[in-house]
Amino acid sequence: MDERLERYVAELFAVEDPVLARVRARHAEAGLPAIHISPAEGKLLLVLLHAIGAATVLELGALGGYSGIWLARALPPPPRGRLTTIEKVARHAALARQAYAEAGLLDRVRLIEGAALDVLPTLPPGFDAVFVDADKEPLADYFEWSVRLLRPGGLLLCDNAFFHGVVIDPDDRSASAEGVRAFNRLAATDSRVVSTVIPIRDGLVVGVKVAG
Ligand code: DHB
Ligand code: MG
Repeated sequence: MDERLERYVAELFAVEDPVLARVRARHAEAGLPAIHISPAEGKLLLVLLHAIGAATVLELGALGGYSGIWLARALPPPPRGRLTTIEKVARHAALARQAYAEAGLLDRVRLIEGAALDVLPTLPPGFDAVFVDADKEPLADYFEWSVRLLRPGGLLLCDNAFFHGVVIDPDDRSASAEGVRAFNRLAATDSRVVSTVIPIRDGLVVGVKVAG
């Protein structure tokens, strides 16, 4: 899309409040890679979660907490509303916790430190939505766990469907590239979900669990 049109939409629909702007700035100052979602992507997540009346969301990959703020803000107050987010890197988790505190959301965010594949088997099923934004190699496993943990009618969301264009580069056989391709293939073909990709930023897989 024309960058000017992207900017037009972002400036009209995805304006950050001071908290989000500060969290993003601190994220950069801390030297974290600039791989967080964009404001427009955050707004899309917010709209989708409102559309299904989501109360419980599971996030894989909290990073510095920026996406978690967008997600948690879509939820009703606790105890019904609850974001469960998993982060493997201790430094990221510390920043994320600070971000949730600053946003006044600590009461509705449960941050679990650890590797997703260790944590996922300990979680009860029934999430209204799962947002996958973590390491790319294990994405086929993340797909399976996400579908298992979603309630019927729940939303499957996954960042980096394009992976900077790598998904259509036949020469890139890296484990990360193959992981993204595997997730996309499963999202497109697994009969338990109906999915597509919204071409926002680096591509967002959006699916609905329809069975199983
Ligand atoms: C990269 C980007 C992401 O949004 C992400 O979740 C992981 C990695 C990257 O640029 O490598
Ligand atoms: Mg991402």
